Amino acid sequence: MPEPRDHWSSRAGFVLAAAGSAVGLGNLWKFPYIAWENDGGAFVLVYLICVLVVGLPIMIAEILLGRASQVSAVGAFKKMIGKRWGFVGGLGVLTGFIMLGYYSVIAGWSIRNFVACMRWSIGGFPADTDLAAGFTAFVGDGPLQLGTTFLFMAATIFVVYRGIGRGIERLARWLMPALLAILAVLLVSAMSMEGAGRALNFLFRPNFSELQWTSVLEALGHSFFTLSLGMGAMVTYGSYMSRKESVVRSSLIVVVLDTGIALVASAIMFSVIFSTAGLAESLGKSTVGMLFITLPAQFYTWIPFGRVLAPLFYVLVGFAALTSTVSILEVVTSYFVDQRGVSRKKAALGAGGGVLAVGILCALSNGAVGALSNFTIFGESFGGKQGLLANLDHLASNWLLPVGGFLITLCAGWVLSREVSAKELADPEPPGWFHYGIWRFFIRYVAPIAVGLIIVFVLLGRDFS
Ligand code: PHE
Repeated sequence: MPEPRDHWSSRAGFVLAAAGSAVGLGNLWKFPYIAWENDGGAFVLVYLICVLVVGLPIMIAEILLGRASQVSAVGAFKKMIGKRWGFVGGLGVLTGFIMLGYYSVIAGWSIRNFVACMRWSIGGFPADTDLAAGFTAFVGDGPLQLGTTFLFMAATIFVVYRGIGRGIERLARWLMPALLAILAVLLVSAMSMEGAGRALNFLFRPNFSELQWTSVLEALGHSFFTLSLGMGAMVTYGSYMSRKESVVRSSLIVVVLDTGIALVASAIMFSVIFSTAGLAESLGKSTVGMLFITLPAQFYTWIPFGRVLAPLFYVLVGFAALTSTVSILEVVTSYFVDQRGVSRKKAALGAGGGVLAVGILCALSNGAVGALSNFTIFGESFGGKQGLLANLDHLASNWLLPVGGFLITLCAGWVLSREVSAKELADPEPPGWFHYGIWRFFIRYVAPIAVGLIIVFVLLGRDFS
């Protein structure tokens, strides 16, 4: 007997869960460092345009496909687009497997930084701590890496095992408000620092002479990752949505929340950087470690109430990551539930176990095991990335998500009939600012051309991870 389909239990359920999926390491870890590397202002503006002209239309398309079909990704493409198109959903399931493997390793790092900060907050921060060396030792420590990855994955599996209403929605209902509250406290603290003005200038005053046109493509690539697009996560969450909710309004809220949180996180980090004498200069361009390495010391030296805020901040990172990992595992799990008739509990454990295997390999690929750490997929031609984790991130961000996104624009814009999409978006009445014709123009022309361009540039060797 198939179990009856679970649904979000309230109107806010979908929006909270989808925003939880979108807001993650992409906002707190990736966006600040790529905005920094690309000199802020002009890059941020280009990113906002990408989110509006590519991200929002695809978000609407994904949720539409899910809500209309009431089945998760593979089934949604088969039912709405045609039997042959099920592979688009299948690609998403594969992407989920790969992404969750490495994402949970990085998410696990938030546990380590939380524990380290608790220790410093209570015992005092030793002035001579070499944070970079400490962190490198940690990521190279096999048993510890396995431990934090496993903890994170276990939490993820537990939530998905409990299902949509009692698991994912309940988690988002608690964590999203907590996340917003912690972020607000941090923002107030950061804005009181003397570097705040410079930070806002850096973020919001565009200087187009600094903009390299390749940054445009980087901004576009990141908009997929951060909005959880291109792998069927939003199709899947949309499939648990009732027809009473507007696809368009929900999409807009999720996009605005995700973008707002990325900007706030950057404003906080840049205020700290500009307030610390010499830090902006010494950081240079290489800032991948901004979140995990640069920031902890600042909490204990510069940030007002830093002793309290430091551990709280890594709780925030962990929460944000958990609501995202849950959505990735749900894509894989729901495939087994909807397409293979497996019970949710078995599917969650099975899919989670499979992903854990990928996670274990990634956890050991940052110094712990030589063969995994030195691994490159196609040598230099694959972005020159070293180690399994970096290679899988490259594969997902540069290949799988853009290709998936491109196929979704073709499905929703060209194969799905005008009647079906128009009817779906008109039920219930969309908000007044929405015009179906404009959405259709963007999903048919603007989005596929823009995404097609990324793929061409990636083929020419550009790296967007
Ligand atoms: N959007 C998430 C983040 O910003 C990552 C993610 C991508 C989650 C794709 C689900 C699907 O961290």
